[in-house]
Amino acid sequence: MPVSDLAETGHGYAVARENFSVEGGHLHIGGLQLAALVRDIGSPAYFYDGDVIRRTYRGLAEALRGFAHLHYSIKANPAPAIVRLLLSEGAGVEIASGGEYRAARAAGARPDQIIFAGPGKRSVEIEEVISGGVGEIHLEGYHEIDRIAGIARRLGRRLKAALRINPVATAQAGAMRMGGKPTAFGFDEECLADAVTAVTKVPEIDLVGIHVYAGTQILDVDALVRQWRHAIHLAAQVASLHAKPLETIDLGGGLGIPYYAGEKPLDLTRLTADVAALSRDIRANPLLAGARVIVEPGRYLVGPAGVYVAEVNAVKTSRGTRFIVTDGGMHHHLAASGNLGQIIKRDYPIVAPARMSETAVAPATVVGPLCTPLDTLAREALLPQLDVGDLIAVLQSGAYGLTASPAGFLSHPPPAEVLVESGSFTVL
Ligand SMILES: Cc1ncc(COP(=O)(O)O)c(C=O)c1O
Repeated sequence: MPVSDLAETGHGYAVARENFSVEGGHLHIGGLQLAALVRDIGSPAYFYDGDVIRRTYRGLAEALRGFAHLHYSIKANPAPAIVRLLLSEGAGVEIASGGEYRAARAAGARPDQIIFAGPGKRSVEIEEVISGGVGEIHLEGYHEIDRIAGIARRLGRRLKAALRINPVATAQAGAMRMGGKPTAFGFDEECLADAVTAVTKVPEIDLVGIHVYAGTQILDVDALVRQWRHAIHLAAQVASLHAKPLETIDLGGGLGIPYYAGEKPLDLTRLTADVAALSRDIRANPLLAGARVIVEPGRYLVGPAGVYVAEVNAVKTSRGTRFIVTDGGMHHHLAASGNLGQIIKRDYPIVAPARMSETAVAPATVVGPLCTPLDTLAREALLPQLDVGDLIAVLQSGAYGLTASPAGFLSHPPPAEVLVESGSFTVL
C-alpha cells in the first residue's frame, strides 16, 4: 500500500467520519473542534459526544420498538451526565452496586426504573437498595434468596425479583462469555425447577421475571437473536414452573460495536426483522404475553460516543520501530491497551485529531508513560508524522474506559471527562 494512501485507508479515519465530523483537517465532536477543546481543558481527557449517544439510543430503541425497552447498563460509563442524558431519552437503568444505585438516583432515576444485578451483592448494598426502592433485584444464586429475604423481612418490605439464569453452552455468543460454563452468574439452567421452588417458598420475594446475560461484544445478529430466543424459552419454563404469568423478561446486554478493521456494526434492520418472530412467540404464550421485555446494553449505547485524547510527549525509534510516547495510557484506558480481558490485542481505532487530512507515515507504536510494556495504546497505528505537542485520539472509547481502568497505577493525575453536545461542553 503506498504510504500516501495510509491515512485515507486507516480504520480510525473511517470510524471518525462515521461517528463524528471532520472539517479543515480537524476532528469535531458534538459540534466543536477537538483540538480547541483540548486547549481549553488540557490533556489527557475523555470527550463524550452527547449527540452521538442520543442518536445511538434512538436508533436502537426504534429498531426494538414494540419488542423491548432499553435499560442502560451503568457499568459501561457511570458519568452522571451520561446517565441523566439516557434517562431523559426514556431509558431505564441496570446497576450492579450500591455506588451505581446512588449514581442512578442522583441522575434522576425513579426506583421502578432500576434493576439490580451482580453476583456479590453485599448486605449493606441490598439494604440500601430495598430501603430506597428498586424495580427488581436479580437473584444470582441460592445464597441471595436467603440474604435478600432476611433483609426484606427486617425492613418489613416485599420486593420483586427475577431469576438470573446461566444458560447452556449452545445458547452462547460474544467475545467474553459469561454463561454456558461454570460461572458465578445466576442459576444453572439445569437447576431451574429447583431454583423456582426455592424462590417461591419465600414470602418476601415475588418472582416476576427472568434475566439472561450471557456475553458481551456480539456483532452477529443471528447469534444475538439465538441467545434471546433461548432466553424466551427459559422464561416460558419459569412461568410454567411457577404457574404464574411473568412481568419481565430481561434479555441482557452484549450488543457489540466495531473496534477493529473488518468488523461491521450490528445490522439493526435485520435485528428488527428477526425480533418480530420473537414478539410473536411471546404473545402466543399467555404466561408471557403481558411481560415487559428488557434489553440492557452498555457498550452499544455509549462506546461510539467517546474519544480518549492524549498529547505526544516524546517520539523515538527503537530497532526500527517508531514509538509515540503520550501523556495518557492504560491507567486511563485499560481496554485500549488490550488488557481488559481481550484475548486478541488489536488496536482500537486511533487518529491524529488535528491532522486528519495528513497522510500516514510508517506504522507507529503508541505508548503511555507507565513503566510497563503493557502500557501500549496501539501497536501498528497508521498515523501521520507526529511531534511533541501533537494529539492522538483513541476512538470507540465511551464504554469501559476510565471506569474500567487502574487509575491509581503510577499516581498520574486523572483525565478530565467532558460531555460535548450541540456546540457546548460540560466538564464532568
Ligand atoms: C448483567 C449485565 N448487564 C449488562 C451488561 C452490559 O453489557 P454490554 O456493555 O456488553 O452491553 C453487563 C456487562 O458486564 C452485565 O454484566
